[in-house]
Amino acid sequence: MHKDLDYVMFDQETISRRVEEMGRMLTEEYAGKSPVLLCIMKGSLVFTADLMRHLDLPCTLESITLSSYRDMATRPGAIEVASPVNLDLTGRDVIILEDILDTGKTLSFTLNLLKLQNPASMKLVVLLDKPSRREAPVEADLVGFTIPDAFVVGYGLDYDQKYRNLPCIGVLKPSVYS
Ligand code: IMP
Repeated sequence: MHKDLDYVMFDQETISRRVEEMGRMLTEEYAGKSPVLLCIMKGSLVFTADLMRHLDLPCTLESITLSSYRDMATRPGAIEVASPVNLDLTGRDVIILEDILDTGKTLSFTLNLLKLQNPASMKLVVLLDKPSRREAPVEADLVGFTIPDAFVVGYGLDYDQKYRNLPCIGVLKPSVYS
């Protein structure tokens, strides 16, 4: 275990089994279709890379990068698209892939933005869901794991841009924050 982790919430094998299962479910559901996978960077990069290899579908891949300023007292809740959205999702079946659904503010913003492009359908797939923290009315269509209110890192998720490369998902030691 990494020295900065308090404990491991999901080990590599548990994540891998669940992601494979999610891939099978999506493959069945989208049979005969060619969905576009929309990876919300950077946290969903690892999840997307693993999940897409379990999709037996002629899918395509796009990404979007967002900046959240939700921790800044001056601009609470403000989110911006940090990379230009030059996507054309018109008439496409879009599968949005997100690492974690927390307050829901990021995804609420993203879903509204993407709806403007008139996709044929949109499905929200998240690896982790923290329902106890929800502030915006967003629910995922498919959830990997429902977790309690703890700050987790690894498997793409970061603290201060670090720990994304950990193969497991774990809770940081409080001493790391101070
Ligand atoms: P929301 O807008 O509050 O739902 O936050 C979503 C974003 O916050 C995620 O895409 C993550 O980047 C970040 N986030 C929320 N909770 C955690 C966590 O426990 N660990 C790492 N990042 C998190």
